[in-house]
Amino acid sequence: MTKKIAALLAALTLGSSMTAPVLAQQTAKTQASQSAEARADALVKAMTLEEKLQFVHGYFPPLAKPVPPIAMIPSAGHIPGIPRLGIPTLRESDASLGVANQIEQRKGDVATALPASIATAATFNPRLAFEGGAMIGAEARAKTFNVLLAGGVNLTRDPWNGRNFEYLGEDPLLAGVMVGEHIKGVQSNHIVSTIKHFALNSQETGRTVLDARIGTAQLRESDLLAFQLGIEAGQPASVMCAYNKVNGDYACENDWLLNKVLKQDWAYKGWVMSDWGAVHSTEKAAINGLDQDSGQELDDRMFFDTKFAEAVKAGRIPMSRLDDMVRRILFGVIDSGLMDNPVPESAQPIDYARHAEVAQRAAEEGIVLLKNEGNLLPLAKSAKKIVLIGAHADVGVLSGGGSSQVRSVGGAPVEIPLTKGAAASFARITWHASSPLKAIQALAPGASVTYVDGSDPKAAAAAAKGADMAVVFAWAWRTEAQDPESMALPENQDALIDAVAGANKKTLVVVEAGGPVLMPWVSRVPAILQAWYPGQRGGEAIANILFGDVDPSGRLPITFPVAVKQAPRPEPLGLAELHAAETRRDAGDKTVYGMSGGVAPFTVEYPEGADVGYRWYAARNQKPLFPFGYGLTYTSFRYANLKVSDGARLTVEFDVTNSGKRAGADVPQLYVEAKSAAGTKAYRLAGFEKVRLHPGETRHVALTVDPRVIARFDNTVPGWIVDAGAYPLRVGHFAGDAALEGSARLDRMTAKP
Ligand code: BGC
Repeated sequence: MTKKIAALLAALTLGSSMTAPVLAQQTAKTQASQSAEARADALVKAMTLEEKLQFVHGYFPPLAKPVPPIAMIPSAGHIPGIPRLGIPTLRESDASLGVANQIEQRKGDVATALPASIATAATFNPRLAFEGGAMIGAEARAKTFNVLLAGGVNLTRDPWNGRNFEYLGEDPLLAGVMVGEHIKGVQSNHIVSTIKHFALNSQETGRTVLDARIGTAQLRESDLLAFQLGIEAGQPASVMCAYNKVNGDYACENDWLLNKVLKQDWAYKGWVMSDWGAVHSTEKAAINGLDQDSGQELDDRMFFDTKFAEAVKAGRIPMSRLDDMVRRILFGVIDSGLMDNPVPESAQPIDYARHAEVAQRAAEEGIVLLKNEGNLLPLAKSAKKIVLIGAHADVGVLSGGGSSQVRSVGGAPVEIPLTKGAAASFARITWHASSPLKAIQALAPGASVTYVDGSDPKAAAAAAKGADMAVVFAWAWRTEAQDPESMALPENQDALIDAVAGANKKTLVVVEAGGPVLMPWVSRVPAILQAWYPGQRGGEAIANILFGDVDPSGRLPITFPVAVKQAPRPEPLGLAELHAAETRRDAGDKTVYGMSGGVAPFTVEYPEGADVGYRWYAARNQKPLFPFGYGLTYTSFRYANLKVSDGARLTVEFDVTNSGKRAGADVPQLYVEAKSAAGTKAYRLAGFEKVRLHPGETRHVALTVDPRVIARFDNTVPGWIVDAGAYPLRVGHFAGDAALEGSARLDRMTAKP
């Protein structure tokens, strides 16, 4: 045995003996991670230079040339392992909403499709985020994937962002808590999850060229806080840096973001992998904190292949930095449990029936009842005639597009290819096979339930006449890589809704969309359900809510504007640059290629700073169409007996009573008014809890506040500061509501960055 291997084995033995079960949980975690560090260190020492170099760049299977000497499953990426040291090949798959298979690159390989992440956020139920993550992780492992590109947590700054459906809303606490649980769920399968896209990838238009500009303290108080909370709770093995620039430097070569904030301030020990095609340099990226180039063939040049090896050999990238990069990757691989629990070599059976229930629960709890005049819902099962209209509700429910696209169990009954746009190469407008028509028929076997496609408003109105309920399914497709240029419903759907509502007073609109859409008909329809993209059991979930088999309990994780002019940026920035590139390409310009699609660089200012979403609306006294946190139920809830414990730590207690006649779930929300680094004051979400109560039942809720959620970030300290003084607070049903009001007197508190 060589000395190196002997040292390695000694380190491995030491590692396992340090995680004795007698240690307290926290100590055990520290010990385990120390041992992961020691083990990673020993492996780095045992690796040859070639092996180290091989581990810092990944292949994109469709383009990899030469093909590396490993079996590559068509997916997002591969990094060959080092069998002599037991280091596994990393097989990467997208996995925001399920194990992705975008344009069916793996023919016939289906997976369970959760609802869009924004629907999971709308559950306000961290347990469901965990269960969803655990389900995805289990399927990924059974399909032999071991690195999941999951954990999207960019805050929704703009209601039109094409990728809002893949994220967790506009509030750092809600998004941070939910993403942490999702990651924990994925990694409970002893595989790696990422958290992404670090940071400020807030729009899709020009995402690979734009420079996102914001004050650093404001970024800490908003998007970075969501990442910070998510990383602390979920401990993802990897962080994926974003396409865009942040304050002048690309996120994947941004010293401040990667070295200062992530690795120094947050003491993050895992690895930074790039987004696919997000690398723009060799030395700069390596020195400034990027640890692994993903899908290297998508970069304009291959920066982490031969060029990287040359830079190391010439000393322009110190050997110590290469060691650090590899150590970080191995730390993640060991700490997540992957090293000790390798994924199977071939695909294993999956309990799809059980996993479908996970998807259905998330959809049911995420659907938000926005309007229910005259208690139109729930619909009695004695209804005789129900007419469904539009959005292919006879066969399925819509899903969002892009790298997160799951080929769901049951297939895609409708699939429309794109003819142009940045998403055309990897996205199709796809419906999951979960038919609202069949699900509604199943719950009301005595009723005539019919479907008309909605293409002709007059015919739809005629069909709706005299029905016990007319249900218009409205749809708005969103995708990665593109932002919609209008938030209005496409294809004459507003006219369709008007016509149907004019013909039948009992019209319900079910909106299948990745976020808000404009609702010019809001006052003309009595009932609206926001179903998001409800996943592969969406039809069943909608039917259960419709008849009251499930009480609606979703709450909006983003503000719905009345009109786009209420939002900080009424339309995506960079549209002029995008259109210019499209025109050149249409005219045959061959220089319009690659990830940027020839879009000229531009800047996006985020002057709202940390006042994202509801805080922006409050600061401008704007009344949105539906506020953050809003959602109706079939019962009602009352809050009473506010008790505030303040001083060194803030805890707010109160009673929640189901004051209605049906069982149901509520999400009481605590908002505390606090001052930001920019000097603005806003009520911020400081706690929430989902409570399920029988009629008349009362539950005592106690919410203890993480000081950072109500702190201001001070760059001169640097760190978090809660100034001593009085803090007005409210317990309410949504942002801006004040069912209970009080005040806390807090001592000065500080926390490290
Ligand atoms: C997306 C990432 C994704 C990656 C790999 C990129 O275009 O931004 O979220 O994980 O592709 O598919």
